[in-house]
This record gives sequence, structure tokens and C-alpha cells, in this order.
Amino acid sequence: MTRESAAAPGLREPASRNPIVAGNWKMNGDHAFVERYVASLREADLPSAVELVLCPPTCYLSALARADLAIGIGGQDVHWLDAGPCTGSVAARMIRDCGATWSIVGHSERRIGLSESDEMVADKVDAALRAGLRVIVCVGETLAEREAGSAETVVLRQLDTVLARVPEAALAQIAVAYEPVWAIGTGRTATPEVAQAMHALVRARLIEMNAESAMSVCILYGGSVTPENARLLAREQDIDGALVGGASLDPGDFLRIAGAFAERATGALQSRAAGA
Ligand code: 13P
Repeated sequence: MTRESAAAPGLREPASRNPIVAGNWKMNGDHAFVERYVASLREADLPSAVELVLCPPTCYLSALARADLAIGIGGQDVHWLDAGPCTGSVAARMIRDCGATWSIVGHSERRIGLSESDEMVADKVDAALRAGLRVIVCVGETLAEREAGSAETVVLRQLDTVLARVPEAALAQIAVAYEPVWAIGTGRTATPEVAQAMHALVRARLIEMNAESAMSVCILYGGSVTPENARLLAREQDIDGALVGGASLDPGDFLRIAGAFAERATGALQSRAAGA
């Protein structure tokens, strides 16, 4: 599939994708927090047009899964092996056993903070898919890389290393999260235009792999997403949801962000590309 044909009008409509809004709690929360959060979600009207996913620390996966909410539950990482002498690590099948249906893989806090290479991330994606999990694959450049003009090269390198390990038939099991490192936890979100440009690049690469499946892959934006900026991000054609850190710790904020993407899914919020 060439890029020219990939860009054919009609193929770029977002309607075939249900947005995903995922909350990455990172290393926050405790059992009492899980209970309060679950109680808030039970009282709320969860948007049906958006797939909600919550990714608590591994030790709270079971508690959240037991609450049996109509949401996806995800781990924040998996090991690349199914079992073995890996003290402190958790295998994909184990988080599945705890009730997870998703896992984040390749978050920059692990790539940079824990020296995870592109190859390790690809191995982890492979392990997660083997275990039957859906995967949120994180990619994103640092500020230095953006300032050096290599943001696109970095993101495509990270993506390509993973895609080389994802069989075409499994493409529908992944979502890609573009998380520019400089926007994570800084309050400095990427502008919708900057994010959309990178998402379009990611989409073009996915289309090269398989045009049909690529149109159903959600590309999420992550980095200081708030209820305030979510509506602007949601108007972009290739921003199919969000991976939310800090704001996901407040169930109200998390649901307001989901609400913005629900509006897009139901057509209440027109995409900028559609001229709204
Ligand atoms: P913040 O939303 O806190 O910037 O975190 C983003 C993130 O890293 C989600 O994975």
C-alpha cells in the first residue's frame, strides 16, 4: 500500500473507530482509593460511545477487576517472558489472570527511567499479544529530540520496531499512544495541530502495513490531558482518544475527558477536518 493511496479520501474517516480513553494511574493509589473510585464510577453515567480503560498498579488489578464495572482493566507493563527467574517482574498471563484485558507497554517512564530499549518493548508487546491482551503501545520523543528536529524519526523508529513483531492479523489488538515526553506531567500539552501531525504520520505507517486494519487502530494522545484541553484534541481527525495520567486520578476529570471523546464519537463534536 503506497502512501498516496493510503491518503485516499474516505479511508480517513474516523467513524469506524470507537474512541478509547485510558487512565494510567502510574504508581498511585491504594485499596481505599480503588474503592472510592469504583463508587464514583458506579454513580456516574459511563459514556457508551467510548471504551474506558483503567490501568492501576499491578497489585490493585484484581480489586478493580472484581468491581465488575463495564470498563477495560489494564496493566502498566508486562515482562517479555511468560515465566521464569525474573524477580519482581510480572508476566502478561499473570495480569490477565488478575482480570486485565489490556496492558500499556513502552511508556517513556520505563523506556527512559528504566532503560527499556525498542527491542525490549517489542518483545513485551509480543508477550502481551501472546497472552491475549490488547496493548497500548507508547511512543514519543523527548524535548531534546524534538528540538533537534528528529521527533518523527524517533517515533517511527519506536513504532516500526514494534510493528515488525505484530502479525497483521493482530493489528486490531493494539492501540498506539503518542506521548511526547516533554508533555508528560508538565502541564505543557502538545497543541492539537502538533499532536494531529504526529498521529497522521503514525496512521500512514499503520496503513502501509494493512490499510483496512489501520483504520480501526486507535491512536491516543497522552501528555497533560485535562477536561479543558480534551475537547480541542478530540476535534482532530486522527486523535482517537487519550492516555491520561494525572487527571485520571480524579474520576470526575477522567469522565469529563471521556465525555469529550464521546461527543466526537456521536457527532456532537465535529472534527476540525470536517470544517467545524
Ligand atoms: P499526564 O497526563 O500526567 O501528563 O501523564 C501522561 C501519561 O504519561 C499517561 O501515560
